[in-house]
Amino acid sequence: CVQEFPPKSTLDPSKYGDHTSTITEAHIGRSLEGLTVEQALADNRLYIVDQHDNLMPFLVDINNLDGSFVYATRTLLFLQGNGTLAPVAIELSSPLIQGDLTTAKSTVYTPQHAGVEGWIWQLAKAYASVNDYGWHQLISHWLNTHAVMEPFVIATNRQLSVTHPVYKLLHPHYRDTMNINARARGLLINAGGVIEMTVFPRKHAMPMSSMVYKNWNFTEQALPDDLIKRGMAVEDPSSPHKVRLLIEDYPYAADGLAVWHAIEQWVTDYLTIYYPNDGVLQGDVELQAWWKEVREVGHGDLKDAAWWPKMHTVAELIKACATIIWTGSALHAAVNFGQYPYSGYHPNKPSASRRPMPSPGSEEYALLERAPEKAFILTITNQFQALVGISLMEILSKHSSDEVYLGQHDTPAWTSDAKAQEAFRRFGARLEGIEKQVVAMNGDPRLKNRTGPAKFPYMLLYPNTSDHTGQAEGLTARGIPNSISI
Ligand SMILES: [Fe+2]
Repeated sequence: CVQEFPPKSTLDPSKYGDHTSTITEAHIGRSLEGLTVEQALADNRLYIVDQHDNLMPFLVDINNLDGSFVYATRTLLFLQGNGTLAPVAIELSSPLIQGDLTTAKSTVYTPQHAGVEGWIWQLAKAYASVNDYGWHQLISHWLNTHAVMEPFVIATNRQLSVTHPVYKLLHPHYRDTMNINARARGLLINAGGVIEMTVFPRKHAMPMSSMVYKNWNFTEQALPDDLIKRGMAVEDPSSPHKVRLLIEDYPYAADGLAVWHAIEQWVTDYLTIYYPNDGVLQGDVELQAWWKEVREVGHGDLKDAAWWPKMHTVAELIKACATIIWTGSALHAAVNFGQYPYSGYHPNKPSASRRPMPSPGSEEYALLERAPEKAFILTITNQFQALVGISLMEILSKHSSDEVYLGQHDTPAWTSDAKAQEAFRRFGARLEGIEKQVVAMNGDPRLKNRTGPAKFPYMLLYPNTSDHTGQAEGLTARGIPNSISI
């Protein structure tokens, strides 16, 4: 949700000068269903996908690579009366060196539906999509799920006995994660690997994700905290999940909050069996050593961050374990298994751009007027990148035949504690209840964002707990496995 207009920048003014957005009321005023910008802001109707500050520091280097031209982008969206979002302006910015400062040269595009102007708008959307594609793969997927889980996997195995209740709780959520990450290091994120081949930052891909990790915050990975941080929800004690969504029909958040709370309830039921009070937790030397290693060794670059839970209370342990389980299960499922179904068609979701927006009078502009589809194809992902990139997404998006879903256990006798077994059965029953809710919401014609114009129902956070026969194997875009294994 946009809080101030025009959107501001957090880039250091002593290096970058003024990077405030150049989008004005004149650009978007006609697209707001009769509202002024001020009214749209007050009603929480303006949203933004802001990739300006994330990209700008890398653009000089990226655009010096052969066959690469990307923009820093801001996409402004309006929440329409029918509950769907529509893009109302896209700002494309390039770095402009002025003395010691890297300022911006920006152009704002607005929706056009015919002729060469219509194709210019298609290209503006393509440049914005390119950034979204790269950010998704490098940050939302690799960094925020695969990479950040490793320290928890390692510290759990090094510091907790296999009979420790927290080990037993977390172990199913680590299945195959170290294995797939090791394979990713050999084939995908390595220098010259598939990721560098297919996403736009190319050899700057890992430096970019490392830079973003500096601002990673464990406590913001819990879904309610993440939604509030991103301005998609506000705290509301009277709502069932204690937060209220600003876009009610937001499938990831609606299903995600139900799954988050099922996880939190299960973790609470389970851990309070073993930790009846904070004193027991403070006296648990294995648990304290585990948390110390997570912070000081595993996430050592961030060890001095003030936000780390101190691990003095049972409430802190519950929140931490729920966050680890959420990250390894539902968060990863939401960002991983929809990659091919939602972005496997490059003209709709390109992974790279190769040349700037054509300017009137140029040869490229003449081609856009004469043969717009050809000009479009010459701008986005090249053929080789597309073949490799789409193939990778197809592999990543497949559920394996031996998947163990959230609420399932591959070792039925994982504990001899009847109370824990009973709590786990309740967790499974809650998740099966969520399955029914998801199916019902997908069939509700009032909820337009769950199927979209392509009539493809949102099933990424359908838990699939009830499936014991592998029905979700393959490219089904459905089901939350316990762990990150692809
Ligand atoms: Fe993955």
